[in-house]
Amino acid sequence: MKITKCLFPAAGYGTRFLPVTKAMPKEMLPILTKPLIQYGVEEAVEAGMNTMAIITGRGKRAIEDHFDISYELENQIKGTSKEHLLTEIRDLISKCTFTYTRQVEMKGLGDAILKGEALIGHEPFGVVLADDLCINPGDDGVLKQMIALNDKYRCSVVAIMEVPEDQTYKYGVIDGKEIEDGVFMISDMVEKPEPDEAPSNLAIIGRYILTPEIFDVIRQTKPGKNGELQITDALMNLARDGMVLAYKFKGNRFDCGSVEGYVEATNHLHQLENSEG
Ligand code: UTP
Repeated sequence: MKITKCLFPAAGYGTRFLPVTKAMPKEMLPILTKPLIQYGVEEAVEAGMNTMAIITGRGKRAIEDHFDISYELENQIKGTSKEHLLTEIRDLISKCTFTYTRQVEMKGLGDAILKGEALIGHEPFGVVLADDLCINPGDDGVLKQMIALNDKYRCSVVAIMEVPEDQTYKYGVIDGKEIEDGVFMISDMVEKPEPDEAPSNLAIIGRYILTPEIFDVIRQTKPGKNGELQITDALMNLARDGMVLAYKFKGNRFDCGSVEGYVEATNHLHQLENSEG
């Protein structure tokens, strides 16, 4: 079954970016001239998806406006030298349908994904955390790589990367057996472990391909760390009953949920743009 839907949990408060996130969504922070979430949508479209299901919350309306036409603005710049600046986003909007639902209370990423059930239905889907910016210039994007793996194994896939041992407390960390180059069958998963509790240095980042069983599994999963419904706990429950793969993706990932990663991404993409002329 072709994967056509991609879920974007975007209800978080983005407290690390206060005060800028007081009245604007973190997902709308720009990297050069595009907001973070647009990079995520472009990656999903490149992977063959055409339905973007966005989990929003209070104060996130700018996301909906971004993926819509702005008649006044379009009218204003029509026929001027600036018109081409809207070509790319117009093109993107014409390729996709955008659907939205709100997560009323921030009860964790697992809960945000569960809220997406009404938009996704009973089919496999992608998940993008837009504050993780992933690029792989000139080659397949991370979601596309993961879909190829889902095609082969027909199970849920999470993207992982190696992190320094003193950074494991920021991530879900996996343990597993390598079944092919860079592909691990997950046997254990720990949410934000201290280095001495971490089963490895393989950390889950914000890209997932999930099978629809995940919704029932989340419903049966109890709140974990910080009293939140953790997707890591739900995935571990799914892995116990079946198979969940972790995939060491090809490309670069920037943690744009942190100021440091955000600046790094901006500099990196700026350099890339300049080198492309
Ligand atoms: P983060 O913890 O990185 O995002 O959640 P945050 O809470 O917005 O940021 P800080 O830590 O306060 O700065 C990872 C992703 O999960 C979404 C967030 O929007 C982000 O994309 N999320 C998290 C939800 O949609 N709902 C939740 O209840 C929790």
